[in-house]
Amino acid sequence: MTTPFYITTPIYYVNAKPHIGHTYTTIAADVAKRFHAMMGEETFFLTGTDEHGDKIVKAAEQQNITPKAYADQISSLFRDLWPDFNIDNNYFIRTTDPDHIAVVNQILQKIFDSGDIYFSEYEGLYCFGCERFYTERELVNGKCPDHETEPEIIKESNYFFKMSRYQEWLINHIKKNPNFIQPERYRNETLAFLREPLEDLCISRPKSRLEWGITLPFDENYVTYVWFDALINYISALGFPDGDNFKKFWPQARHIVAKDILKPHGIYWPIMLKAAGIDIYNHLYVHGYWNIDESKMSKSLGNVVDPHYLQSTYGADAIRFFLMREMVFGLDSNFSESTLIERINTDLANDLGNLFSRVLAMFHKYFNGTVPEIEPRVRNGEKADLFADAQHTIKKFKDEMQSLKFHKAIASIWNFISKMNKYVVSTAPWELAKDENKKDRLADVIFNLIEGLRVIAGLILPIMPQTSATMQKHLGINEENALSTFDRLEQWGSIKTGTGLPKPVTLFPRIDVKNKNRQNKNLKNINQTPVKQGKPEKKSLPDLKPEISFDDVLKLDLRVATVTHAEKIPKANKLLKLEVDLGEEKRTIVAGIAKSYSPEEICGKQVIVVANLKPAKLMGVQSQGMLLASVTDDACAIATIEKSVPLGVPVK
Ligand code: MSP
Repeated sequence: MTTPFYITTPIYYVNAKPHIGHTYTTIAADVAKRFHAMMGEETFFLTGTDEHGDKIVKAAEQQNITPKAYADQISSLFRDLWPDFNIDNNYFIRTTDPDHIAVVNQILQKIFDSGDIYFSEYEGLYCFGCERFYTERELVNGKCPDHETEPEIIKESNYFFKMSRYQEWLINHIKKNPNFIQPERYRNETLAFLREPLEDLCISRPKSRLEWGITLPFDENYVTYVWFDALINYISALGFPDGDNFKKFWPQARHIVAKDILKPHGIYWPIMLKAAGIDIYNHLYVHGYWNIDESKMSKSLGNVVDPHYLQSTYGADAIRFFLMREMVFGLDSNFSESTLIERINTDLANDLGNLFSRVLAMFHKYFNGTVPEIEPRVRNGEKADLFADAQHTIKKFKDEMQSLKFHKAIASIWNFISKMNKYVVSTAPWELAKDENKKDRLADVIFNLIEGLRVIAGLILPIMPQTSATMQKHLGINEENALSTFDRLEQWGSIKTGTGLPKPVTLFPRIDVKNKNRQNKNLKNINQTPVKQGKPEKKSLPDLKPEISFDDVLKLDLRVATVTHAEKIPKANKLLKLEVDLGEEKRTIVAGIAKSYSPEEICGKQVIVVANLKPAKLMGVQSQGMLLASVTDDACAIATIEKSVPLGVPVK
């Protein structure tokens, strides 16, 4: 029996539309949920909306509607957004749900009855943006650190929660459980807060000032402070106190939040649970901010990134991948569309997409799309050169995912992708295909490559569920043996002999950065001629050419490109027609390399292209540039770039 897994996001305020910051947290929780489901655990993933409080009243007033009508509108924007990002939450809670309100009442009454809530007059500095009192010490230059506004002095009688009683207990708990708050910097930050005496928390607001809240069960003139109401969602959604979900999942609770709400989650919430006699949650995972130009995204700064735009422009999986790959969990990250495009083009279109289409193209060519008979030992993984790498990658991936190091987990998959590419080069299936006696070895190699793709398809599942499904379909994995668990994924050799695979598809089309206009107009439509014309003297190198100036060298526009397609040109046995991708545009280039390279072999390679050569027609094909290569009269070797770099970058 595996341990169940319960993961939550913050419930988002309905005073503003969802942005990419909310989307990040929700995707992170979804990735974690899908990963734990693959580990064979029973999972429950909760998200929702936080609908009471001053902020909502003000936002509703601006629209001239009631707070409830306003909350309904914005809450559904969140609820409806998540399926577009393949978010698979089990429940969506709203703090206006009657079941939630009933649980808040129950907890308040319990703590009140046990004597931890008292009534007192208080005069303090109140920030309406945060909806809470501040101490002088917490202010920065007399202003609220979040809203940068001066708090107002408010004097009123209110109910207070005796948090101070539990301060020592909480310090000990955090010290005894080093993984309670992660990453460590936030654990340290919480302990630093707790070094100062903890003030009791004001948990009510007089109805004379705010009506939009849950009425206190012991005083109808007051509503509950919004945080006291909101935090309880994590247990009310599970059917506290008697629901089966509560019994099963609460002992395994993990919350994901950003650093803005560390204090309510790291201090108020465990103390509330302790005071109510409920076990406290297991882990709090705290991430940093997505910034725009180094400032936190916020509605007031008007710099929010719209998730709908990103999803409809680049696709849900690409955004999920980018957000998880780019941010180091716990640290801030700067969001930029150009970095997003670069990652899509390099990691997804180039590394993953090209490997997938290259392997499947060879498979279809050499085996007509049917998985061949192979040596049983290869099927069992014993002799497979890639098997050990795959096993190691799976282990590393699991370790990193367990501790929410998403970026490292993803990097480990991409490391394996690069090993797969090296395997293609070192085994050279196109050479094996030329020799009848090597057909068995060819079958083994292609089989291993297909198995390698199967492992990749499984590992990306939590991050890019749609892409994983597409890859699985094209690897002949049907629903019955879908890669939904690591147990299945780890069975090397599970693709069956005789399975017919559908033709490959493009997983991620490259994004044309400057979009179509540029392609049509200014591109100097540079051409290329095949490698070298005329025969050099046998066994002697050609004479050096006359000296040229540096300015002459600068006239050459050399660019990095990837060969995306290659084919022979009928009746021209030296020439290959290549489609190359220069990042901002695609070109056709005719290259005289057919004696040394088969189309399969050249496909997927990064090459260096003379991009400003005048176009020329060769054997009826318009060639728009040339490849750099070393050439002798009977062989050639193309020049490539030693590390994978973004397409189109100049070579100097
Ligand atoms: N309603 C409270 C949470 C109550 S939970 C019991 C709240 N809501 S919020 O709408 O302001 O959401 C804050 C959360 O949204 C952050 O903790 C984080 O999860 C996410 N993010 C909002 N802006 C973000 C960034 N710029 N970057 C990363 N995450 C961001 O606080």
